[in-house]
Parts: sequence; structure tokens; C-alpha cells
Amino acid sequence: MLVNAKEMLDKAYENGYAIAHFNTNNLEWTKAILEACEEKKTAVIIASSEGAVKYMGGFNTVAALVKTMHDDLGITVPVALHLDHGSYEGAKKAIDAGYTSVMFDGSSLPLEENLEKTREIVDLAHAKGISVEGEVGGIGGEEDGVTSEGELADVEECKQLADTGIDFIAAGIGNIHGVYPDDWKGLNFDRLKEVSDAVNMPIVLHGGTGIPEEQIKKAVELGVSKINVNTECQLAFAKATREYVEAGKDKEGKGFDPRKLLAPGTQAIKDVVFEKIDMFGSEGSANK
Ligand code: G3H
Ligand code: ZN
Repeated sequence: MLVNAKEMLDKAYENGYAIAHFNTNNLEWTKAILEACEEKKTAVIIASSEGAVKYMGGFNTVAALVKTMHDDLGITVPVALHLDHGSYEGAKKAIDAGYTSVMFDGSSLPLEENLEKTREIVDLAHAKGISVEGEVGGIGGEEDGVTSEGELADVEECKQLADTGIDFIAAGIGNIHGVYPDDWKGLNFDRLKEVSDAVNMPIVLHGGTGIPEEQIKKAVELGVSKINVNTECQLAFAKATREYVEAGKDKEGKGFDPRKLLAPGTQAIKDVVFEKIDMFGSEGSANK
């Protein structure tokens, strides 16, 4: 059965590695992530944004898909199903649908409202053994059609958010969603250290796509224990699928069969999963 994300993240925080959070977008994505992490005996967080939930058919559909596939594939590694960047109502729906972890993203709200709503989600979620992620200071870039500038998290606000009872915290430290611009200045490790010292809990790095390995390693040393990746899997899937079609393979025999057409892209997702769990140091974490 699925687990919440608290235990796997606390273990990562204490042992100096990071658990990967991969957003799923459909059945093939879910299968690729589960099979790759089972092969590498690695704990993982499978996440859905609310946009992906809408696309896939609803919270109950996503929960049923991930739970049932997990069992049907005989997955043995710890897997959490997490709502990514949840609204207040979305987080409550995910809790009711059987997600094992939720993010309430109140970063666009006035601080007091963010804190108040986060406390409410914490109470609802913890009553069911569900882990909770909170956020202060918006993460920049574009996610599900929402674009923001992003800002460095305020350390005092992070402390107040941590005091709401959340299990892990997303803080803006110069990270953005999507592909990083060429003139990106890199992660702000001074602010990361200040936040980490203030909250003393696993920190979530959103916008994991394309961050160089040396920055990932340094961020993990400073308390990052969950790293979110979505765009990089999407780009890899699209590239592999495009190459298959441009090579005319969809016209060879049954090449148009979706089980063949989607296979290169599905493998490309697995390859990103393999690369990231190795880079994050969580490979084999199911047995650590
Ligand atoms: O919440 C999801 C992640 O932050 C996705 O970030 O698409 O830049 O990898 P990414
Ligand atoms: Zn994010």
C-alpha cells in the first residue's frame, strides 16, 4: 500500500540525501516512475498538480490509478501519492480521495491567511496520517499555466509556517519552475542555510529540472530532502516521441499502436528517473 511522505523524508534529511518527487501526467508516466524506482529499490513521491488531476479525470481517478497500479505491479518500495501545489479546496479533495500526502500552497495569500489555512489542512491531514507540505515565498516560473516571478523566502515567515505543524516546507531560494534561463544566478545557498537553521525540518526544492549536480549536492547538504521534477520528464518524453514519429516508425507495421507510439517516451521518463534518483543520492533508499 502507499505510504505518507514523512518517514521517507525524515530519513533522507537525517542521512543526507533527497527523495525525488516526480509529477505524473497519465498512466504511462505513473508506470514508468513506479517500475524505475522498484528496479532501483528507491523510495519515491508520485505527485499530481491540480491541472494534471483535471486532465486525468479527477482526484479519485488519480488515487485509484496509482494505488491499484502500485499493487498490480507488486511494488515493494515506499511510494507516496502527493498533491502538488494544492489549493485549499484541492487539498481537502485529495485528502478525501485517499492521497497520502498533500501540499497546501498558500504562498500567494497574505501570510496570516496562509498560516491559518495551512493549520486547518494540517489538522485534517494528520488526523488521517497524511503528510503536509507548506510554502511561503512564491516559486518563480510557470506551473500549470500559472507564472510568477518568485522571491527569496523570508526566514521568519518560514519559521512561522513550520510552527503550523507541517512536515516539510517549500521555500523560494532562487529556484523556478520550468527551464532555467541562461542567465540564471543559481540557488541562493545563504538563504537556504538560514531557512534550514530556522525550521529544522526537510526542505523541498521545487523546480528540479536542469539544476546542475553540484548545486543539487550542496542543497542536499544544507537540508533539501525532497526535490520536485516535472518539466525534464515532459521534455524527454516529447523528444523521444518526436524522434519516433520523425523516423516514420509510426508507419512501420503496427507502429501507430499507442503501446508502441508511447514506448520511447515512456522509456525516456524512466531514464530521467534513473538519473535523478542517482543524482539525489536516494537510489537504494528503500533498503537504507
Ligand atoms: O511542483 C513541481 C515541480 O516544482 C516541477 O518543477 O517542472 O521545473 O521540474 P519543474
Ligand atoms: Zn513546484
